[in-house]
Parts: sequence; C-alpha cells; structure tokens
Amino acid sequence: MLHGKSDVDSNVSQAAILALYDSFDIPKNRLRDEPVEASVATRLVKNELLDEGNARLNLATFCSTFMEDDAITLMFDTLEKNAIDKSEYPSTIELENRCVNMIANLWNAPEKGFIGTSTVGSSEAGMLAGLSMKFHWRNRAATLGLDLGRQKPNLIISSGYQVCWEKFCIYWDVELRSVPISLTQINLDVDKAIRLIDEYTIGIVGILGQTYTGVYDDIKQLNEALEVYNQGTEHKVYIHVDAASGGLFVPFIQPKLEWDFRLKNVISINTSGHKYGLVYPGIGWIVWRGKKYLPKELIFEVGYLGGKMPTMSINFSRSASPIVAQYYNFLRFGYNGFLKIHQYTQNVASYVKNELVNCGVFDIMNQDYDSIPVVCFKLKELDFSFTLYDVSNFLERSGWKIPVYQLPDHLKNVTVSRIVCRSDLSLNLAEHLIEDILFAIQELNDSNFSYPHKRDSKGFKH
Ligand SMILES: Cc1ncc(COP(=O)(O)O)c(C=O)c1O
Repeated sequence: MLHGKSDVDSNVSQAAILALYDSFDIPKNRLRDEPVEASVATRLVKNELLDEGNARLNLATFCSTFMEDDAITLMFDTLEKNAIDKSEYPSTIELENRCVNMIANLWNAPEKGFIGTSTVGSSEAGMLAGLSMKFHWRNRAATLGLDLGRQKPNLIISSGYQVCWEKFCIYWDVELRSVPISLTQINLDVDKAIRLIDEYTIGIVGILGQTYTGVYDDIKQLNEALEVYNQGTEHKVYIHVDAASGGLFVPFIQPKLEWDFRLKNVISINTSGHKYGLVYPGIGWIVWRGKKYLPKELIFEVGYLGGKMPTMSINFSRSASPIVAQYYNFLRFGYNGFLKIHQYTQNVASYVKNELVNCGVFDIMNQDYDSIPVVCFKLKELDFSFTLYDVSNFLERSGWKIPVYQLPDHLKNVTVSRIVCRSDLSLNLAEHLIEDILFAIQELNDSNFSYPHKRDSKGFKH
C-alpha cells in the first residue's frame, strides 16, 4: 500500500504514478490511521474533484467564477483573519466599514445615520433584515396596544422569492404571504401586495433581480402605494429590498432607477458581494437606513475576543478574506470600472437574448422587464418533440450547465431555462454557447423526434 511520496519509485512513468495514486487506500467514512505527505494528499483531493466541470461554463449560478490573480493572492494572504475578531483585526474591520459606506453611497443612503455590515451572503443578510423587521414591528405594535398573541406576524413578498425568505419565515415563525406572479406580470403585483397587509405585517420585501427570471419588482410603485397606505394607519409598513443580484448592478447600469434609499419607505437593503460585486462566494452586505430600524436586541457585544465591539450577525467566525477582496474590487475598478464590466455583461446578455429570439424556438420570459443580465426562456408553444431538458442535457456534453425548472406556484406548469451572464462570459464564449444551442436543436430535431409543423429559413418549424 502507498504511504507517502517516498513509496513512489522515482523511475516509474508519470502515468504509472497516477495509477498508483488512484489505487491509494482512502477510507471514506473514517480517518486514516496515518498521515500522508502533503503532495500526496493534494493529488488525491484533486483526483476526487476531477469530474466537477468547469465553473465558467456553469450558467446556472449568479456567483462569481472569476477573479483577478492579484485579488486571489490577497484572499489567500488573508484567509486566516477572522471577520468577527474586530479587536485583533481592526484594519480589516476598517476595510469592512469602508465597503459598507461605499455601498450605502451607491444606494443613496442618507449622509448620516445609516448602519450596515458584511455577512456570508444574502441569505444571512435576509435573515438579519427579516429579524429587524420582526423586532421593529413588535416594538411598534406593542406600543400601539396590538394583541401580539392573537395571530402570527406575516411578511409579504412575490411568489418569485428566493428560498432564503421561506427559511426566514419557517425559522422565525412568521407567516409568508406570497403574491402570485403570473404570465402577464412576472414581478410583484403591488395592488395585490397592499391588499394582503394587516396589522401583523412586519414588512414587504421587494426583489431587485428575481431568482427565477431576473426581473425587478417595481419598488418605486410599491413605495408610492405604501405611502398612501401608511397615511391612513398607525400600523406603518416598510420595505426591505432583496437586491441580492441587482444591488451591485443597477447603481451602475441604471443609476436613475429609483429602488433604493431615495424611496422613503425603504428601510433596509441586502446584496451579495459574490454576485455582481464580483467576489468569490462568501460575502454579502446589508445596510439599514437608520439605527432605529435595527432593533438593539440584534446587536451583541462580546468581550471574550479582547476589546468590546458591537456585532450583528447570525454566524460568528468566518474568514475576512472575502471582505478584503470586496474592498480590492471597489478600489481596483472604481465606479467606471464596474460600469464597463457590467455594460459588457449586459451586451453579452442582449446578444444571447437576440440569438435565442432569432432562432425561432424560444420565448424570452424577461424580454419586457428591467432585469439583471439573465436570459430566462421557454420553448415556444409549438409542436416540438424535444423539451428544454433535452436541450440542457445535450449542452452538458459540451460542459455547459443550464438549469431547467418550473416557475413557482400558479405557474408550476411553465418550464423555463435560465442563462446567467456574468463578467467572465465573454462574447466569444457566448458565441460558442449559441452555436452549441443551435447544434443541439438541430440534432434533437434530426434524431427520432418528429419535426414541428412549419419550417422557417433556419429550418425550424412554426
Ligand atoms: C433574490 C435572491 N435573494 C437571496 C439569494 C441568496 O443569496 P446568497 O446565495 O448570497 O445567500 C439569492 C441567490 O441567488 C437571490 O437570487
């Protein structure tokens, strides 16, 4: 049995060495008794991960799959720093605070009084936002004499919500009131949302970049409707914006779009730094308009790491390297750098969208909406004898990962696919993707499948 590098005969060929590693005895469910050399362990771990595919061809994820080498080096050099240990790493915390300030500035927060923090991602940020809304509501409702035990508090959101909101409601015993999306309106129906409000509503979540389709809720319209609603009641209702994907995209691409703290009833916003903030997974952000919207019950001070510092987080220890990387990106690209990168990504998304329209096979779901650079599409309602699953499976042969899924709730019978364009999907790569999609359709048509009814100039039937 192979115990370490020294067991590998230096005269054997490289292929033989690889074969030896492959036959290495690695127990899967208990520790090996003895250590192995680092190089052997590295090779074995790499072997385990070999079949995982190329992250850049994974068009299912919103998360960054590319960072510059300098950024990676910085992350590598700061891996051991613990983000919660604010007295040990005050300079890192200074960078975190600068990031919060920069993001608050991008989101048009009031000059003074806002407060924010980094998180692991938007899910943790969403939990903090939900808890703040719940505590803030409870304190207000108690003052107004509401019988808090009579019914559960509730949260209103469109049915296009990401699973973190379902988690929040289940973990913290809140009723999730979802406003169904429909084929004629795949974002939040504001009138319906307002009709769902009662005195037990802790808040309404607007989504800037729905996970299913990429579209934005009309937060400005929601704000206006709430303004009217709030004038007639003591039980005011406010907005949290889940800008997981849009929060670091829209301020560059559509700076005039009003969705953020310019709107009076928006009290908090979250985003994922690891999406359009262009950092590898592990970083999110949340900013509250003012301290009064972050109830003090959620702020903790611990002394056992040396020195007292307030923290608001659900996790405790985590590496600070994604914070450092976020700061690097902000410094490195500046406003205009982010603008250029995102414009490029948006152009690639437009290219993909147009090509999919032109091939005559797909309907684009997010065509008529403001949206992050995502192309969500379904098969036209024609007599195709292949499905989106067939197309996706076919593309997987060339390494592309393109998810197929059903829209939520009332639209469960609508099957769609989604291509998430990120900064590392170059136009060149996108051209390959389109070629592969066209080839897949051609092949699927040419195999045992029957053709759709009518053919157009590209050979597709209508
Ligand atoms: C709208 C929305 N909210 C929340 C999340 C969760 O984000 P994270 O993966 O950063 O926890 C996502 C993830 O895709 C999302 O799209």
